[in-house]
Amino acid sequence: MSGNITFTMIKPDAVGNGYTGKILDLIISNGFKIRGMKFIHLSEAKAGEFYAVHSERPFYKDLVSFMTSGPIVAAILEKDNAVADFRTLIGATNPAEAAPGTIRNLYAKSIDANAVHGSDSDENAAIEASFFFSAFERF
Ligand code: CMP
Repeated sequence: MSGNITFTMIKPDAVGNGYTGKILDLIISNGFKIRGMKFIHLSEAKAGEFYAVHSERPFYKDLVSFMTSGPIVAAILEKDNAVADFRTLIGATNPAEAAPGTIRNLYAKSIDANAVHGSDSDENAAIEASFFFSAFERF
């Protein structure tokens, strides 16, 4: 079924601050099922490739540097309307604009250290999930 998965990363700030469990709990209690999950430290090459779509943006270098500053948790999540519902759960990219109770409102400090990533379309969810997970690592 199309539209039922999204891809997320719990970013180095949230992992380092000990929020992994609280964020996973929010994800699960909001109806998302975990279909793949791994705890990894991205290389510069991998992070650069993942965010290649932003390579011309002024924040690209800082983004790659931040995403390689510590381990992350990457996961594939399943739910009806997963992409849109997950973006609602995480809140605006800039935590200063994130609605109360959203993951970024609760656990993020800045637009760079914004606690979580969420796919922005069904097409990118499929691309991002395949970037991180082989067929044997997702269920
Ligand atoms: P993410 O959803 O992982 O996708 C790209 C990331 O770039 C974004 O979250 C932010 O953490 C980071 N970023 C830094 N500055 C900006 C900006 N001005 N606009 C959008 N994203 C930004």
